[in-house]
Amino acid sequence: MDFTNKTAISTGAASGMGLLFAQNFADLYGNVVMCDINEEVLNEKVKEINAKGKGKAVGVVCDVRDYNQVCAARDKAVTEFGSIDVMANFAGGYALRMLKVDTQQYPEFPDVPIEVFDWGLDVNLKGPFYFAHAVLSQMREQKSGLIINIGSISGAEGSSFGMEYPTAKAGLMYGLTKSIAQYGSKHGIRCVCVSPGPVLTREAMANMKTLMGRAAEPQEIIDLCLFIASDKGQFINGENIMIDGGRNAAPRWCR
Ligand SMILES: NC(=O)c1ccc[n+]([C@@H]2O[C@H](COP(=O)([O-])OP(=O)(O)OC[C@H]3O[C@@H](n4cnc5c(N)ncnc54)[C@H](O)[C@@H]3O)[C@@H](O)[C@H]2O)c1
Repeated sequence: MDFTNKTAISTGAASGMGLLFAQNFADLYGNVVMCDINEEVLNEKVKEINAKGKGKAVGVVCDVRDYNQVCAARDKAVTEFGSIDVMANFAGGYALRMLKVDTQQYPEFPDVPIEVFDWGLDVNLKGPFYFAHAVLSQMREQKSGLIINIGSISGAEGSSFGMEYPTAKAGLMYGLTKSIAQYGSKHGIRCVCVSPGPVLTREAMANMKTLMGRAAEPQEIIDLCLFIASDKGQFINGENIMIDGGRNAAPRWCR
């Protein structure tokens, strides 16, 4: 794979899979615009990529919940590199964990303050929606582009406590991904959702069962994203692809 003269925006790019995607894309000679709210770590990671001297990286402090910041990230990609070939929406996560909520305090879903769920819905669903709206104008002009949404096995399973997470992820996996693909088809634009099961960006994910008896290495998820973006993946469109070690195929009782 070679992404010379291609540009990707990656959100959640200061850590985990958003970072790994940016690192891999640049290793394959592509340019990356790395968006995150964690400015300090983001700057450090951008520097590391540029020090390698392969693809070029630019960091943009961008809260995906803020449409003006999203547009500024899009504009930075265009002024710096001239195109947006891949938009990869990695920023996200389970709100109760990301916001470090003390779950002992709240016995059930209706007890959790609504602000927690607002955050989760905004980051996980509204963020990719905002980015789709912002980058599609550029992609329409180019007559090309790919948007990769990151769903989750949770979107297919639901959750009785942190309900915002499966709600938002299901929105990406089915509604948003198909809708963008439908709109994009007349402009040469594709949209694909990649939905992981447990991924070892955190050790705790090793406890989540799969048919294969293990969680994924982050690289396994990124390899799929890169394949979809590469010349070989061009016919993949409008689809949600589970990459979950068979968890979605497991009988409900053994999950
Ligand atoms: N790790 C898993 O097991 C797993 C499984 C299924 C799906 N996913 C999804 O994959 C994606 C990446 O997961 P990860 O484990 O690599 O993530 P991570 O927690 O390592 O990184 C998330 C990044 O998003 C950034 N971020 C948080 N809020 C933001 C905001 N408002 N605007 C911009 N950036 C923000 C954080 O600073 C962080 O750098 C997420 O969407 C997650 O829901 C993860």
